[in-house]
Amino acid sequence: VFEEATSASKAIALEISNLIKVKQAQKQYCILGLATGSSPKGLYAELVRLHKEEGLSFKNVVSYNLDEYYPMEPDSINSYVRFMQEQLFNHIDILPENCHVPDGTLSKEEIRDYCDQYEARIEAVGGIDLQILGIGGNGHIGFNESGSLQNSKTRLVALDHITRVAASGDFSGLDKTPRTAITLGVKKIMEAKRVILMAWGERKASIIKASIEDQVTSRVPASYLQEHRNATFILDKAAASKLT
Ligand code: F6R
Repeated sequence: VFEEATSASKAIALEISNLIKVKQAQKQYCILGLATGSSPKGLYAELVRLHKEEGLSFKNVVSYNLDEYYPMEPDSINSYVRFMQEQLFNHIDILPENCHVPDGTLSKEEIRDYCDQYEARIEAVGGIDLQILGIGGNGHIGFNESGSLQNSKTRLVALDHITRVAASGDFSGLDKTPRTAITLGVKKIMEAKRVILMAWGERKASIIKASIEDQVTSRVPASYLQEHRNATFILDKAAASKLT
């Protein structure tokens, strides 16, 4: 638990930076699982700073994003492709071919094979070394909404009403907010060697308490992380305020 989100984000950036450097020294790729949304913005700003001011290179980084709205064009203002480019990729030296965000442009018939391939590609590079997560007000991780099973695969999902309401500001109204998304499944998240979930602010306090202190349940997918061998919740004081 950190005093505030800025110092917490810097601590996460430092861990990522150290991992990238260890992998560089071993001449290996560093496989990062990345999230979008408001929570990781400070983390990405600090990673950009580390690149620009301290020479941190991302040439050995391969990234896989958690999710994308469906349908979604990559150059749309609300796409997660665009979010990642604006917040991180355009400002560092990661190779474009090493950045992966689920494709929101496929036909419904193509999605299942595509999702299987997304997982197969992650497996082929040895799995995710470090997965970054935010948490939804309903406990979702990625877009694994309430009811998602622990062994769920990467797939097309229906977004919960509460998730769509939270996103509706970006889409200028609920009726224009996507109803579906492609998300990495819980299983691949649980297979990551290290998981860091970040949450800031009072509005996350209740779901953080449920995720950490209540029993593991599919109602709150973030609670599955209680069973992960190397997961840490990084919180500011407000998000931690309901923990006993
Ligand atoms: C985004 C994602 C979501 C968000 C969550 C929290 O890629 O996977 O699970 O992390 O909805 O969003 P913010 O950070 O905006 O509160």
